Amino acid sequence: MLTTAPCISTGQLPDPALVRDLVSQGHARYRSVDEGENADYIPALAAVPPSLFGICVAGTRGELYAVGDSDYPFSIQSVSKPFMFALVCQAIGEAEARAKLGVNSTGLPFNSVIAVERTADGLTNPMVNAGAIATTSLAPGDTAEAKWQFILDGFSRFAGRRLDLDEEVYHSEAATNQGNLDVASLLAGYQRIYFDPFEATDIYTKQCALRVTARDLAVMAATLANGGVNPLTREPIIDAIHCQHVLAVMVTAGLYESSGDWLYETGLPGKSGVSGAMITVAPGKGGLATFSPPLDPAGNSVRGQLIARFLSAELGLNLFASRPAISDLS
Ligand code: DON
Repeated sequence: MLTTAPCISTGQLPDPALVRDLVSQGHARYRSVDEGENADYIPALAAVPPSLFGICVAGTRGELYAVGDSDYPFSIQSVSKPFMFALVCQAIGEAEARAKLGVNSTGLPFNSVIAVERTADGLTNPMVNAGAIATTSLAPGDTAEAKWQFILDGFSRFAGRRLDLDEEVYHSEAATNQGNLDVASLLAGYQRIYFDPFEATDIYTKQCALRVTARDLAVMAATLANGGVNPLTREPIIDAIHCQHVLAVMVTAGLYESSGDWLYETGLPGKSGVSGAMITVAPGKGGLATFSPPLDPAGNSVRGQLIARFLSAELGLNLFASRPAISDLS
């Protein structure tokens, strides 16, 4: 019997000149929006200039379109969560990862404790803090240092360059981290954390303080759009099958309790972080990354969401968009 690989249908980004023009247009259009507030529960984030605004689109063929503060370094925060889930799926298999972490949305804020307590099994998903700390606890390695090296190495391969830790942000969050420590202790009660809860929280805090730029995040997002192969270095980072699982969880939970509004407006998987970072992934086509610190009440970058909505529509990225196959029946 003839066996063939299953068909995968995606498409590609429009002409490079058009993408370049639209990325610039988007920057000009939303540059002066001044709604939202920097996160302040991590003191170091409150001090970042709110006017910073960087955008980068990375195509799956390695093309980059950057504008504004796209090389300004910031901490990755929750935008790390899909990549950590991807690395854990690759390391232990997606079935085990799913069974140990859960993949259903909570519909609750990112730091919710109720999200854990209301379930019988303590499962959430890898995009909220509870599930993300549990995901980090599953990183391979018997010691905290071994787990951290696995994370540093994996994230660096996703970005295509050696990343480092923003020590100031790490220490700032570590000093004000009681909420995440409480979540980790609660998970331990449910046997839903797979390493020492205090050490796992510390590693997770470091993971969130990894220093990246919008350009790095665009390449990382484009790797999730490209069957797990980094489009710049051409290095395979994770298997293609894991990309589709990671993107599925991003769709339902990437913007926490506003994930429904996000999907309704963009039709794409996305992930936000309290530093003002955001990624949006167009499978087969590429990744969009933005950096703009002021956040809405759910903790999502205000300008980041506006740009994603604009570029999804203008570049034809919405996964739910279609046209009648035969428009003239006469
Ligand atoms: O654990 C925290 O609270 C932060 N390190 C990350 C939270 C975050 O980025 C939520 N995103 N919008």
